[in-house]
Amino acid sequence: LRRLQARQSNRPRASAAVPLPRLLSAPASLRPPLPPRLPPRRTQSGKQPGEGLELEDIFIAVKTTRKYHRSRLDLLLQTWISRARGQTFIFTDWEDRELRLKAGDHMINTNCSAVHTRQALCCKMSVEYDKFLESGQKWFCHVDDDNYVNPRTLLRLLSAFSHSQDVYVGRPSLDHPIEAADHVQSDGSTTVKFWFATGGAGFCISRGLALKMSPWASLGNFISTAERVRLPDDCTIGYIIEGLLEVKLLHSPLFHSHLENLQRLQGESVLQQVTLSYGDPENKHNVVSVGGVFGLQQDPTRFKSVHCLLYPDTIWCPTKKIS
Ligand SMILES: *[C@@H]1O[C@H](CO)[C@@H](O)[C@H](O)[C@H]1NC(C)=O
Repeated sequence: LRRLQARQSNRPRASAAVPLPRLLSAPASLRPPLPPRLPPRRTQSGKQPGEGLELEDIFIAVKTTRKYHRSRLDLLLQTWISRARGQTFIFTDWEDRELRLKAGDHMINTNCSAVHTRQALCCKMSVEYDKFLESGQKWFCHVDDDNYVNPRTLLRLLSAFSHSQDVYVGRPSLDHPIEAADHVQSDGSTTVKFWFATGGAGFCISRGLALKMSPWASLGNFISTAERVRLPDDCTIGYIIEGLLEVKLLHSPLFHSHLENLQRLQGESVLQQVTLSYGDPENKHNVVSVGGVFGLQQDPTRFKSVHCLLYPDTIWCPTKKIS
C-alpha cells in the first residue's frame, strides 16, 4: 500500500486511472469538498460523551512482520508501548522467542504470510479486528510498527466521542475519495466513492461501529471483502465503513505517516500529535524536529527524544539539566 500511496500522490490529480484494478479516480468536478475537521462533540450538560474514558478502554494493534522485530519493535517497546502495555497487542507473522519474552501474550502470531502483499496485510487486519471484538474494549486503534503513539493525546481525542457512536477517525492518505466497483450491487455496474484513513498513520474505530462492520469484517469475511473489491487492507476498512455502512471518516490532522513531510512538525506541536512516524532508510532525514534530548546519531527516528519530552521520568532519559 505504501508504494501505491506514493504512486498515487505523485500522480497529477486529474489522472483518470489508479493503479489498482477496478479502481477509478474521481473527476475533479465530482469531488466533494473536504469534510469539516473533527467537530467538538459536547452534550448539553457540557460533558464530553466519552468522559471517563481510560487508556485501558483502548485496544491498540501494532502491525509488524518478522524482519522488523529488532529494528522497529524494540524501539516501540522501549518507548510508547512501555506506557500502554496493557492495551497494546503486536500482530506479527513469526513465532519469535525473543519478542515473546518481551511481550508475552501481547504478541499475536497471526500465522499470516510474511510477504508484503495485499492478501497478507488483509490477513493481519482480519486477525486484529477479531481480537479486538473478542477483547470487549471500547476502541480499536490500528498503527504500524513505524508509528509513535502518544497515549495521552490518543485518550484525549477519543474522549470527545462515545464508543457507542459510529466513529472512524484518521488521516486520509489522498486529497480525494477513491472509487471502487461495488459488487454488493446485483447489477455490478455501480461504483461507490469513499474516503479511507491511511493505515500507515494509524486510525481508530469505535466499538459501536466495529460491531456493525462484522458481516464484512469478522471471521475471515474481511479477507473475502478485500478480495471482492481487490483493495488493500486500509482501503477495505474505508470501503466497509464509508461505502457500505455510510458512516463518514472524521479527518484528523493528528495522525502522521512516513509519506508526509514530517520535518514540518516542530517543537511543542510534535508532543500534541496522536501518532508520528519516520522516513524509510532511503529517506531517513524525514523525521520530526525535536531538539534538546538526543542527537540524530543516537536517536535517528526522534522517537526517544519525543518519549523523554513526554515522560521525563523514564529511566534511560537524560536527567534534566539544572539551569
Ligand atoms: C497460529 O497458529 C498457532 C499454532 O497452530 C495457534 O496456536 C494460534 O492460535 C494461531 N494464531 C491465530 C491468530 O489463529
